Order: sequence, then structure tokens, then C-alpha cells
Amino acid sequence: MSVPLGVYVHWPFCARICPYCDFNVHRARGQDTEPPLEAILADLAEHRTRLGRRQVHSVFLGGGTPSLMQPRQVARLLEAVQALFGLEAGAEIALEANPTDAEAGRFAALAAAGVERVSLGVQALDDEALSTLGRNHGAAEARAAVARALDAFARVSIDLIYARPGQSPRAWQGELSEAVALGAGHVSAYQLTIEPGTAFERAVRRGVLTPPDAEVGAALWDVTQSVLEQAGYDAYETSNHARTPADRSRHNLVYWRGQDWIGVGPGAHGRLVLGPVDGGAVRTATRAVLRPDAYVETVRTAGVGWDTIEALDARACAQERLLTGLRLAEGMPRDTLHPCALAVLDRHAAEGLVETVDGRVRMTRAGRILADRVAFEAAAALPDPMP
Ligand SMILES: C[S@@+](CC[C@H](N)C(=O)[O-])C[C@H]1O[C@@H](n2cnc3c(N)ncnc32)[C@H](O)[C@@H]1O
Ligand code: SF4
Repeated sequence: MSVPLGVYVHWPFCARICPYCDFNVHRARGQDTEPPLEAILADLAEHRTRLGRRQVHSVFLGGGTPSLMQPRQVARLLEAVQALFGLEAGAEIALEANPTDAEAGRFAALAAAGVERVSLGVQALDDEALSTLGRNHGAAEARAAVARALDAFARVSIDLIYARPGQSPRAWQGELSEAVALGAGHVSAYQLTIEPGTAFERAVRRGVLTPPDAEVGAALWDVTQSVLEQAGYDAYETSNHARTPADRSRHNLVYWRGQDWIGVGPGAHGRLVLGPVDGGAVRTATRAVLRPDAYVETVRTAGVGWDTIEALDARACAQERLLTGLRLAEGMPRDTLHPCALAVLDRHAAEGLVETVDGRVRMTRAGRILADRVAFEAAAALPDPMP
């Protein structure tokens, strides 16, 4: 069986730019979105020429805010993927949506266009927190959008952000329990990260925004794990929880398992085995041009939208695998790991943070909060260059 192939489409437009967000985003107002859509379609066609025909396992329309796309634009994109590559039977077709009334009003049309899974950026169920996060919706609007999404789509996920300034574990417990009761089959719960270059980073530097300290952060993590576990959600990835295996994000599993994906749209990343480069096929990282107008121009002149393309050597591939693989509850096959990485992991096994079960290395329940730190340590221990 061939390696699953995902397609990531980055739609970089947002109604409002949130002060914590460092994704490649641009104000939607006044933008003509037809040229970027045409460029994305042309970029996809050029990928097809270079890759050959490979059936697609998952399509993810992310952003930015792809729920601002016209349903006919979504339908055109999905028709193009089908015509160029073909979709596996039961392929995942997912879209990120903001939970505003205006977007919820288009859910039925987006489902008719072919979207079967929606990921709703609820973020919080507290009006004050939503205002601090700079969101353009309140909690009641978000609740109503989840209900409409459950009516329209086969599968619904909600995104939440915790470890917000001033958030107590007790308040988070209540809010998360309420979020779970909304009935989505999947919850992504992300700890707020203060990203360089964002308005939140400047506010932290000025001392007007203070994220919780490490102790409160750990307590909030514990609440997240226990509320979701008790509600029957399995933490199949550090921040991602699914009621059943069918509720999991198949597209994100492509990333986390180190499989292949095409990235189209301004700023999209991809990972593909392209060849021949210097005579052999090589796993390659691609990144498309960031600015929408520059992306359109690059596709027009170069065929593809990427401006950065890097052949990943064995060490870079192994590092990426560790950084995502150790976040998965399923862990990684022990026999695929380099002895230098294994030495680090076995040292942490002696401390009860890592375990090997059925030939797979994974974080223990106690170790999961430290998955990123342990993975960085194991990745840094790999020899350079790696044979
Ligand atoms: C790229 S955003 C797109 C989703 C959609 N536009 C929205 O805002 O609802 C995907 C998710 O990343 C998460 N996210 C973005 N920036 C974050 C940050 N600084 N810290 C934690 N989570 C963040 C949010 O939960 C968000 O829903
Ligand atoms: S969080 Fe979502 S809506 Fe806000 S700027 Fe980022 S992508 Fe846009």
C-alpha cells in the first residue's frame, strides 16, 4: 500500500486578526479572492504533473479562515482534487471555521460542496476571555454555531485555548465540561503560546498581559486531561482528543506520522518525496510564498507557488519524526529509532516518563506533558551528519 497523501490548502484571509495568532493571515476586507483561488487550482495541477497520479487520503482547508470561502469556491477546489488526483473511498474532507452567525449560515452549503468534517474555533466559552483573545464572536454565538455544525456535518471538532491570562483550574474545569457537553466528537485543546511578533508578545513585554506560571499551567493541563478522559475522549495526540477512532483527524495523522502532503495556498507547507534530485528521490519540504498577491504571481510565472524547497537529509527527517511521533499516544516503532535517540528515551523510561509497549516507544501518562521536551532532547542527540 502506498503512503497516504494529504492535501493542505491554506486560505489566508480572516475577518479580523487575533492578537495571539502567528499564522500567515491577511485581512479579508476588500480582497478579491478569485485570483488566489485560481492560483491554488493551478498550483495543484502543477503538483499533479510533478508527482504523478496518487489518490488523496485527506483534504484540509485551513487558515486563516476558509469558512469565509464561498461554497462554490470550495466545491471547485474539491472537484479539482478529485479530477487531478482522485480521492480514496471515504477520504476526509475537512475545513476550519470560525463560529460566527454569518459563517454558520453557510454550513449547509459547505456540506453540500463536499465538506464532511469541520473544525470550529470556539476557543473559549467565556465572553470576557473571547474579548481578551480579540475574537469576533461571543460564547452564545459559538454555542449556536456548534449546534448548527452538528446538524450540517458528519463530524465536528472544536478548538479551545486554555492557560489564558488569569484563568484558574476551577474555572477551566467548568468551561471545558460545558464545551464537552456541546457534543462534538473531537476536541483540540491548545495551551496559549505567546508567539514572537504577535500583539500578545508585545503586551507580555509591556507587562500588561501575564500568562499563568508553570505551576498553574501544569494544573490546567491536569484538568484538561481528566475532564476529557472522564467524558470518554481519548488523548490520541498531546492536544487532540477523540471520542472514537472515527472522530480523529485523519489529515493531522498524516503530519504526525511523517507521511506525505501537498501544501498549496499562500504560506502553505508541504512534505513530498520529489525526485530525482541529484539522481534520487528525496523527501522535500516545500513552503509557498507568503503574500497572497506574490503567491498569485509566483504560480503564474513558475507554475508552483513554493519559493522555498529544501531536501531533508536523514537527520532532519528523523528529527521531524520524533517531534510529532512522541506526541502520539500510539508512539513510534522502536526499531525505526536511532540508537542515540533511544539512549535518551531509555533514560527517561527509567524516570517513568517513557515506555515501550508492543515494540512501540511512547510517553507514559505521567510523561505526556513533557512530550515536546523529551522529543527535542532525543532529536538533538542524533549524530550530525546521520548515516
Ligand atoms: C490557524 S487557527 C485557524 C482557525 C480559525 N481561523 C479560528 O481562529 O477559529 C487554528 C487553531 O490554532 C489555535 N491557535 C492559534 N494560535 C494559537 C496560540 N498562539 N496559542 C494556542 N493556540 C493557538 C486556535 O485554537 C485555532 O483554532
Ligand atoms: S486565530 Fe483564526 S481567525 Fe484569528 S487571526 Fe488566526 S487564523 Fe485568523
